[in-house]
Amino acid sequence: MVGKIDLLLKGKSVIDRAEIEAALDFALGQVVDNLGEFTASFKRAFSTNNFYDATENVNWTTGFWTGQVWLAWEWAKRKGLEREAGALKRAGEIQIDSFLDRINGKREVDHHDMGFLYSPSCVAGYKLIGSEKGREAAVKAADQLISRFHPAGEFIQAWGPMDQPENYRFIIDCLLNLPLLYWATEETGDGKYREIAQKHIHTAIANVIREDYSTWHTFFMNMETGEPDHGATCQGYRDGSAWARGQAWGVYGTALAYRYTKKAEYIEDFRHVTGYFLEHLPSDLVPYWDLEFGEGSGEPRDSSSASIAACGMLEMAEYLEDEEAACYREIAGKIMRSVVKDYAVKSKAESNGLVLHSTYSKKSPYNTCTPEGVDECNIWGDYFYMEALTRLWGKWNPYW
Ligand code: GLY
Repeated sequence: MVGKIDLLLKGKSVIDRAEIEAALDFALGQVVDNLGEFTASFKRAFSTNNFYDATENVNWTTGFWTGQVWLAWEWAKRKGLEREAGALKRAGEIQIDSFLDRINGKREVDHHDMGFLYSPSCVAGYKLIGSEKGREAAVKAADQLISRFHPAGEFIQAWGPMDQPENYRFIIDCLLNLPLLYWATEETGDGKYREIAQKHIHTAIANVIREDYSTWHTFFMNMETGEPDHGATCQGYRDGSAWARGQAWGVYGTALAYRYTKKAEYIEDFRHVTGYFLEHLPSDLVPYWDLEFGEGSGEPRDSSSASIAACGMLEMAEYLEDEEAACYREIAGKIMRSVVKDYAVKSKAESNGLVLHSTYSKKSPYNTCTPEGVDECNIWGDYFYMEALTRLWGKWNPYW
């Protein structure tokens, strides 16, 4: 790491243990206090004026609420808070029932986000408390995910019906859906999940990373030939820009790709994609919603991208030589200090979430997204905030 990134990080402090503990203590209290409203129902994808409403188990995002419940449960156990841990465990189990019901009923599962939905909820519940319903639901979700694989193009289709050229594409976010497939192979002994994950990783990484190491949000394949066709944005500012969260999914996604494949080329990809992300951060290390924007742009931030990228760096640090690992841990610790200090919710009166100033989808003249959740809390931002702090505090067995 040289030059611009060094300059950006210079003089900034790494979050210390007391700050991590205080932040996780507050998060635990907030999650426990929310259980009354959000056990039978889930938090919506994003807040309105910083307060979440309740939703049924729909959309691609509800797993992040259950994921917070499990992270809070882990923290409560570590602190010996048995009453809180008991309440969280009961809530987690009730929500696993809902996820099993959802996959059995095939409700809103015609998309690729099975990993976002089922890893932090059901895989986590199985790993942490041995939930057999969690295992059953997650294996069924993995089956659903592989049903979206196109053998000709060797990728998992993100959205929409499978037989339309306008939907014959994958998106960078999908790299986070793949650990569910590796887990399913480990659990069932059936290699088909891993093989599909491997093929998708290869196709995705070969095509979404541009020459300057920025990334495409979405990438179309040719339906006739299965060959790569072209990149396009959906939630970024414009086609050629780097949507901040897409780049953050790339940071975490390449780290997970290495973890599961052990292919050295993915370490190199991780370094490049992370380097681009870091080089385009403003001075407080929390990106604007698209990396095209910088200080003075007046554009909203996406604090969720900061936490996602920090998790990716902490994941990759597990596999790197000591010096490089320490470097990424230090960067993640600096990013998270900024998030805790200036973006995290500080009182229950301010919000029923954990982190302010995230952006789900901001409309621009050049993108195709539905505008929603601009400069609000969002549910994955809250989840990855807790995950990053948990990782920084000590050894953690990932849900991914
Ligand atoms: N995976 C969709 C998003 O990051 O908004």
